Amino acid sequence: MVVCLKVKKIHGEDAKQFLREKGWLDTERLIGKTEKMYLILPIAGRFDKHILLKKFPGSKFEEKNLQKIPPHQTDLKHLLKNILTEEQIGELVRSYDVIGDIAILEIPPRLDRLAVSIAWAFKRAFPYIGVVARKMGKVGSADEEYRLRKYEILTGERRLETMHKEGGLMMHTDLGKAYFSPRSSRERERVAGLVKNGEQILVMFAGIGPFALVIASKNQNTQITAIEINPDAFKFMEENIRLNRLGFAINPVLGDVNEVLPKLGQKFDRIIMPFPEKSWDFLELAIKYANKNSTIHFYAFVREDKLNDAEEKIKKIAEKEGRHAKILRVLKAGSYAPKTWRYVFDVKIK
Ligand SMILES: C[S@@+](CC[C@H](N)C(=O)[O-])C[C@H]1O[C@@H](n2cnc3c(N)ncnc32)[C@H](O)[C@@H]1O
Repeated sequence: MVVCLKVKKIHGEDAKQFLREKGWLDTERLIGKTEKMYLILPIAGRFDKHILLKKFPGSKFEEKNLQKIPPHQTDLKHLLKNILTEEQIGELVRSYDVIGDIAILEIPPRLDRLAVSIAWAFKRAFPYIGVVARKMGKVGSADEEYRLRKYEILTGERRLETMHKEGGLMMHTDLGKAYFSPRSSRERERVAGLVKNGEQILVMFAGIGPFALVIASKNQNTQITAIEINPDAFKFMEENIRLNRLGFAINPVLGDVNEVLPKLGQKFDRIIMPFPEKSWDFLELAIKYANKNSTIHFYAFVREDKLNDAEEKIKKIAEKEGRHAKILRVLKAGSYAPKTWRYVFDVKIK
């Protein structure tokens, strides 16, 4: 039995709203009603009887047996409750990604024997998911240069190919053949928002094209050169440019940036370097092809206490090229390891 406010139906919505605002509505129970005139609202917390009686004249307090709202049958946390502890659920729910109709889970080895049951819980919670896969090893474990990792398919169709949507753009990919992470979507939006009319832009490690696509879709009057070394990723990029009708703004180039850039012989107003594991190896090259007053978005994994060193290193590399680098801003653009983040350095090159 719980204490309830029996209130006339004409005041029902106001009373519900008022109780909710005060934190006095018991949201875990169903709301009742009498056949004719009254709503029965379950009450929780330290409510003030006098305030309620004054605000809703004609209402009464009664004890009623209102049922608890059954947990939603497709609620992920509820489905996982039978399999995992609260802490394990928290860990799992914080770390999964959905790419197209594929859910990618990070399951620690100690939960190996529960992996398939966990996968089924995901499939029930998200009926549109066609494949549930699990990350195996680190990025680069399947192919270092192309940044591919291994996956184990736990349930669903035996494929890693899917159509992902990001802000209305279609991105076709195969996670077994090309790198893609939905976690950089905010960063892509941020960079696209900084682009100015008429800029010549270079995306150095373009993958299936997400940076180029987002920038082109938001800035019609730009020219983007997008270079990618992995032939599979390159094919997906070409297809994605076609699918989104952005061919007028993006020039995809297959090859190694070290070889492609000298051949193109072009300089750029904005250069994006989304390859945090290796970007230091390419900074000198990027600066060579940076116009005066251009911006480089330089991504790198750096320990929190080594940020100053990283900034100094960027400035020194620029000096070696006879240029001046001014650090405009440094932002966290993803987590990596304890006290180490994926940072983006926005650098003005003079
Ligand atoms: C971390 S991924 C980033 C892909 C994409 N920009 C994204 O955000 O999804 C790095 C990409 O750089 C490509 N890559 C590695 N070395 C390269 C090089 N020397 N020249 C051009 N692309 C390269 C890899 O194949 C991979 O697709």
